[in-house]
Amino acid sequence: MVYHESVLLHESIDLLGITPGGVYVDATFGGGGHSKLILEKTGEKGRLFAFDQDEDAKRNIEQQAFSSHSGFTFVPSNFRHLKRQLRAEGVRVGTVNGILADLGVSSHQLDTAERGFSYRFEAALDMRMSRLDGETAADLLNTRSVDELQRIFSELGELRNSKTLAYAVVQERERKRFRTTGDLLELCTKNLLGERMRYFSQAFQALRMEVNDELGALEDFMKDALEMLAPGGRLAVITFHSLEDRMVKNYMKAGNVKGEPDQDFYGNITKPWELVTKKPVEASQLETKQNARSRSAKLRVAAKRTINDKR
Ligand SMILES: C[S@@+](CC[C@H](N)C(=O)[O-])C[C@H]1O[C@@H](n2cnc3c(N)ncnc32)[C@H](O)[C@@H]1O
Repeated sequence: MVYHESVLLHESIDLLGITPGGVYVDATFGGGGHSKLILEKTGEKGRLFAFDQDEDAKRNIEQQAFSSHSGFTFVPSNFRHLKRQLRAEGVRVGTVNGILADLGVSSHQLDTAERGFSYRFEAALDMRMSRLDGETAADLLNTRSVDELQRIFSELGELRNSKTLAYAVVQERERKRFRTTGDLLELCTKNLLGERMRYFSQAFQALRMEVNDELGALEDFMKDALEMLAPGGRLAVITFHSLEDRMVKNYMKAGNVKGEPDQDFYGNITKPWELVTKKPVEASQLETKQNARSRSAKLRVAAKRTINDKR
């Protein structure tokens, strides 16, 4: 089975503006599709640091393209520690030429039943991308307050009956603790609103995003990316959720995820990024036909301003 089919592959790598012999980061290695193209473009003298927090992704570094390239390094870490990890690898702040993040889960993660990411399979309700530590989705359902659960279902899942579902979780767990994907599916079925599959995938997505603190990690990552990039270096981010896209858009516009104008010591508005894409790039008709997952993908790219750039 294919580990993952890369989304917006050529669009993202073209817009990263890769130069031979540069230093690059793929923050979300997965099946290595984007990484492979980065290495092809930057050539033998280039360097690539590929992050992934999922131990399963590591097996893909055995492919020839990676094992035979002396400038390739796999970093088994959450990308929220980008700066710390790169510095540990001897990369200096302000020297990276391009950073890519292709957010979310890989097809491999969704298709591996025992990971508990998908409502299609009966399995323990886990959903951790890194299984080394942290709360599982079942833990979360068994312990969070009704308000917390409502926030998760509403903000991350965009479920219109988030309050009803949150109360139903709390009521159900008094009877029986949540353990499996089937337990959650049963609850969703009883509280269904709107189209069935859509409801299930939104509820599962909400829990996955919370379990892995995906929004928190994205914010930390973008801050580190700005520091690590060289002036003119580019950041490319592919998102699959409107909240993530808004965070990326705001960060590239204003230098913070809220999009509020930042000021320097003298009261001048600071803009650390030059937009490379004014509007998000979306998948072509052909790609969306071939790969359904690409339908919700949005790619934004920005370059770190040099000191002499006009504000
Ligand atoms: C959509 S896939 C990337 C696919 C890859 N671009 C390719 O072409 O095969 C996302 C990958 O990023 C990893 N990932 C997601 N969030 C992460 C994080 N905060 N830190 C490190 N890896 C993360 C997941 O484990 C998954 O393997």
